[in-house]
Amino acid sequence: MVDVLLGLQWGDEGKGKIVDFFAKNYDLVARFQGGPNAGHTLYVNDKKVVLHQIPSGVFHPGIINLIGNGVVLDPVTLKKECDIVASFGIDLKKNLFISERTHLILPTHRALDKAAESAKGKEKIGSTLKGIGPTYMDKTGRNGLRVGDLLDKNFTSAYIKLRLKHQKLLDNYNFQEDITAWEEEFFEALEFLKELNIVNGEYFINKHIKDGKRVLAEGAQGSMLDIDFGTFPFVTSSNTISAGVCNGLGVAPQLIRDVYGVTKAYCTRVGGGPFPTELDNEVGEELRKIGSEFGATTGRPRRCGWIDLVALRFACMINGVTKIVMTKADVLDAFKELQVCTDYNINGKIGQEIPFQMEKQKPVPVFKSFPGWNTDTSATKSFAELPDTMKTYVSFINEYLGVDVHYISNGPGRDQIVKVY
Ligand code: GDP
Ligand code: IMO
Ligand code: MG
Repeated sequence: MVDVLLGLQWGDEGKGKIVDFFAKNYDLVARFQGGPNAGHTLYVNDKKVVLHQIPSGVFHPGIINLIGNGVVLDPVTLKKECDIVASFGIDLKKNLFISERTHLILPTHRALDKAAESAKGKEKIGSTLKGIGPTYMDKTGRNGLRVGDLLDKNFTSAYIKLRLKHQKLLDNYNFQEDITAWEEEFFEALEFLKELNIVNGEYFINKHIKDGKRVLAEGAQGSMLDIDFGTFPFVTSSNTISAGVCNGLGVAPQLIRDVYGVTKAYCTRVGGGPFPTELDNEVGEELRKIGSEFGATTGRPRRCGWIDLVALRFACMINGVTKIVMTKADVLDAFKELQVCTDYNINGKIGQEIPFQMEKQKPVPVFKSFPGWNTDTSATKSFAELPDTMKTYVSFINEYLGVDVHYISNGPGRDQIVKVY
């Protein structure tokens, strides 16, 4: 069986921490999409670690970690991450596996990302500029290079051919970037990558499943950044939803059991695009300050707002969420009053559906107000001890979504989590 854990909002819901917490119940943790645009924060022996491409099960001895075919992989970032992980005494030769079908991010993909973003001017997506979009474009355009190609003696000539293609595109953008240093790092990192375990990912994972091993698929980004269902065009370039697990790992849909959806107790977004419940005021500022809402990958301040149940119910629907994990509940400890978005008002029409083009239709959120709990909950260990006001907040969310919150995370630490059921 395969369980899935993914983000229900615009990313940074705390997936890394929760995967690290759940990992002990699994034998294999796999990333199925995204790439170094992700930044998953965990605390290991009270030391903060941000993982970008390595699955968040890596700090548990005996657990296998797989980078699936649906991921786009930057060898340079991977090498840096591996060095950090290895400094904790983890032997990646034993517990990290990479699918040969995983597409490679080349230095020119990163340059193309920059060129495309700057050409968009005011309409820019706010990409992390890690080369994600151009690499997925080369995948669907049937041009890309994959990890397995590294073992082919013609790899260098295939690389030069693709770089030339990219150069023409960059010329079209009239964009210049000296990639000499990137390229040097890239080729060095490829030698490192070749020494890791490169496997036939789909056979690898299916054999583990057949042998009765428990698999957790770890999502990156969030459902509202999904290429099909997110706030297009302000999205990432992969399917971040549960369906992405099947083509991002090569597992059949009937093997999927639980889908854990992670949401913050409020909401954030980094980068451009619509965000109906955004608080462009001192309340948003406070959420950012208390929640330390700064991007784990880019350091950019995250936009903050109240929880959006219209968007969350949509995310539960398209993912088939069976259990919800609510993170950063402790961040709301300081607030006297909380708001929850229950409806969208679009040109005077009240509804509960995500419109086709959010940035044009500009939904105005309709809020329901709740009293805050105004107590420090960060040391609480059991659901019974949590304030009644928090329980009321959570049970309203359960009822609205039709899916229950099973865990409440009340701090960034590994053990700061309360089981509801
Ligand atoms: P991810 O991309 O979904 O893994 O999330 P990020 O790591 O980008 O961002 C989540 C941030 O919130 C990190 O700094 C975490 O350490 C932190 N965090 C996670 N869970 C909690 C929580 O329950 N409370 C607080 N205060 N911080 C949390
Ligand atoms: P994790 O896994 C939050 C956002 C970017 C930008 C848009 C497109 O840490 O939750 P891209 O680099 O993919 O071309 O950027 O998506 N974005 C994220 N926002 N968390 C992430 O990952 C993100 N990955 C991409 O800010 O708006
Ligand atoms: Mg993140």
